[in-house]
Parts: sequence; structure tokens; C-alpha cells
Amino acid sequence: MLALYTGRAQAVDMNAFRNLNRPVAQAFDKEIIKVEKFVITGGKPLHGEVTISGAKNAAVGILPATILAADVCVIENLPDISDVAVSLKILSTLGAQVKMLNRNTYEIDTTHLTGTNVPDDLSRQMRASYYFLGALLSRFGRAQVAMPGGCNLGPRPIDQHLKVFSALGAEDSVDYGMITVRAKELNGAHIFFDKVSVGATMNGMLSAVMAKGQTILENCAKEPHVVDLANFLNMCGADVRGAGTDVIKVRGVEKLHGCTYSIIPDQIEAGSYMVAAATGGDVLIKNVTPKHLEPITAKLRRAGAEVEEFDDAVRVRRTGDILPLKINTMPHPGFPTDMQPLMGVLLSVAKGTSTVTESVWDNRFRYVDELRKMGASVQVDGQVAVFEGVEKLSPAPLRALDLRAGAAMVVAALMADGTSEIEEIGHIERGYENIVEKLRGLGADISKVDRVPAALEQAL
Ligand code: UD1
Repeated sequence: MLALYTGRAQAVDMNAFRNLNRPVAQAFDKEIIKVEKFVITGGKPLHGEVTISGAKNAAVGILPATILAADVCVIENLPDISDVAVSLKILSTLGAQVKMLNRNTYEIDTTHLTGTNVPDDLSRQMRASYYFLGALLSRFGRAQVAMPGGCNLGPRPIDQHLKVFSALGAEDSVDYGMITVRAKELNGAHIFFDKVSVGATMNGMLSAVMAKGQTILENCAKEPHVVDLANFLNMCGADVRGAGTDVIKVRGVEKLHGCTYSIIPDQIEAGSYMVAAATGGDVLIKNVTPKHLEPITAKLRRAGAEVEEFDDAVRVRRTGDILPLKINTMPHPGFPTDMQPLMGVLLSVAKGTSTVTESVWDNRFRYVDELRKMGASVQVDGQVAVFEGVEKLSPAPLRALDLRAGAAMVVAALMADGTSEIEEIGHIERGYENIVEKLRGLGADISKVDRVPAALEQAL
């Protein structure tokens, strides 16, 4: 049964509803009035096995990078999430032939591209559209992309991206929110990033792979997805060395070629299920790279969870108290900022006082207001949040304010005895493949329902 959820908390059989009110049902079918949310009844420990999908942050860099191959690439282990769908749509719009081989594998032929302007509405749907700037600039000497969208985590400048493009010989301009970069030719350069930036490091590699001579990038981000992009580029014939360290050296090559490449497992999706398991349960998390999870594993162990590492899996269990922690988010290999809201939820029920310092983004404690609705006791002062652990969280109506804040609310709802509803779940679906099915597989009581807005309920 397709359940239609109303504000009066009734689930209505969609077929019965169609007979009741044809115009509203038609509008619903056309997704005009569809508002989706998660309904979660918590308090049940998670048990079983879950398989982690490919890394979102690697996928959104590697898909634009296929442009550089000017050939056929087969990309495997792509997560089935909306940020990947948008990236594939952008590639199609630019003239690439995109063929789905299965749910997680796509063949992308970028031999004949017809455009260098990424459509405004598509680029605004995700932050990572900025990778099209580096890739298109590198291949065609020109690119136009709207100022990127994505999560609202405070100011998200791209000055370090533009710094690389400029050092390589490109000019940039921003008009009406559109960024244009142009270059007659790109020449290798020595760049020192003023700030450690994942995006600027990846755009540095994308723009330098076919520049003349050598490019040296210093003070680089070392995240697993930075290394994954370098590996993909090298498989296409690029000469990129040092990814995963502070210094990356790129020797420009004349041209690249296609390849078949499998994306690494998603560090943050894995970490999210690890935290969910650490709230109380026993979960085997498969298809992971345990090395990438070390900063998360270390904190979870200190919080009282048992984490057992295998070659490509981790098992997380917890039966005793959750212990308070001090956390400071840092670029890799520090504790990932994207895990901060999820750990915040766990610490909200720790036995004692925890301190969480957010050192990467200015505005990453907005989820705390949602958590307070559930009874959490949290004081935020600038970049520091102090969590006084409470006995338990209570169910509440919640919002997914951004991707990871949304995932954190899912974990919070799983912890609360009773039923919570989470709205604006589109944010969560940007980054978590099949979250409902995966959590149900672990015994969670979660469903995704479509709700008719209150104003239209009168018509029911
Ligand atoms: C990526 C991730 C995001 C994660 C972040 C930090 C993707 C698609 N997103 O975002 O989930 O939270 O890394 O791990 O991979 N900065 C500048 N100037 C710039 C670029 C960044 O000052 O030109 C600053 C930012 O404001 C921020 C810090 O550098 O304070 C880190 O940002 P960055 O690593 O670039 O994040 P993203 O690549 O956008």
C-alpha cells in the first residue's frame, strides 16, 4: 500500500484516497503537493548486517573527472543518491552519453561534449558542482557554473579553488551568481593553499592534470576521497603523486583515456551506522575501509563502544554506559566534521559532560535546536557545544536541516522511545542510499511516507 500521511497522523490507502478526491490525488501523483518525511519509532536496539555504499564525496569528484578522459569510463560502486543523479544529469546536459549498466554502475562517454556551461538550476542543487569548473576548464579552457548550493554550514567560499585556477593561468569572473573561468592555456604552478580544503585540493588536481609542466599543491586535504580522485585520474593516464599527504605533485600529460573504476566505500555513511550501532546494539558494517574509519573508531571506543575491525568490515557493539568525550573536528586524519552532529546525538545521552568543538564550519550546531526538542541539554557558545548527558531522548517532530544534521536526527529518533517524524528528508537522500531499507534490515521501525500539506487536508 502506498501510504499517504496526513497531519492527523492517519495513513490512508492511496487507492481509496484517489476515489475520494481525484484532483488532489492527481496533483499528488504529479508530485505537486508531495511532502515526504520519515516516521521512526525508536527504542529498539539495532542488530544485524548493513552494507555501505560508494562514497558520495568521491563520486561527485570522479563523475566530473570523466570529462577529462574524453573517452568511455565505467564507474562502479556509485551510490544511488540524489547528488550522483544530479552529477549524471549535468554530464548528460553537457553532451555526455550516460548509460546505466546497473543501479550502481554507469558507463559515461565524454568523447563528444557540446557545452561548457553547467545549467544554473542543476549546479545550485549541490555544493560539489564546483568540480565541473576544474574539469571543464582543464579540457576546454572555459567553464561556467552557478555559485554552488548544498548544505548551509555557514559561509562556503571558493577563493582557494579560484587561487589554483588563477595560478595555472585562468581568469575568473562572477556575474549574477554565475562563476566563469577562462584560459588560453594552463601552465603548471606552485600553489600553497591558505586553508586545508577538500574541494580546492580536488579542483587543483582536476585543473592541473593536462596543464603544461609540473604543478605542486601544498597544504592539501588528505581525505580518502582526495586519494580516490587521484587514483581515478592516474588510471586514466594522469601523473598525480602524493595524494593523501600534504603535498601533491601533478605532472601535466597531453591527454587522458577512459577506464573502469570502482569508487571507495563511504567513510561518513559507515561512520553514521557505527554511531547508530553504538547507541545500543550489535551491527556488522560491511564494505568499508577500516583505516578510513580510525578517527571515528577511536572516539567510539572511548565512548564505551566495542569496535572490532576486519579486512573490509567493522562490528560495533555497546551494552554499558555511553561515556562523555571531548571532540574537536579537524581535516583528515582528524575527527571528520561531517560526523560531528551524529556524535553530538550520541553524547547527548552520555553519563556526564562532553565538549564538542567545530573547527571546520562556522554554522554546524543548528541541529542542536532540534535535539533540544527531544530533551537534550546542550549549550552552544560560538564554535563550542557543551552536552550535559540526559537519561534519554523523547520523541519529537524534527527537521533535517542539512545532510548530516538530518542523519543525526534519524539516529536521535532511533534512540527515543516512541514515534518521531523527520521532515525535509530530501537533505538526507542527497547522501544516504536506501537508508530506510538499510535501517529496516537492522530491525529499525522506520518508514518513508508522503504527506499532504495541512492546507490541502481539508480536501480529504
Ligand atoms: C567537503 C565535503 C563536506 C565536508 C568538508 C570538510 C564534499 C562534496 N563535501 O566540502 O562534506 O564537510 O569537505 O571535510 O566533498 N574554505 C575556504 N576557501 C575555499 C574553500 C574552503 O575558506 O576556497 C574553507 C571552508 O569555508 C571551510 C574549510 O575551508 O571552513 C573546509 O572546506 P572544504 O574542505 O573546502 O569543504 P568542501 O570541499 O566544500
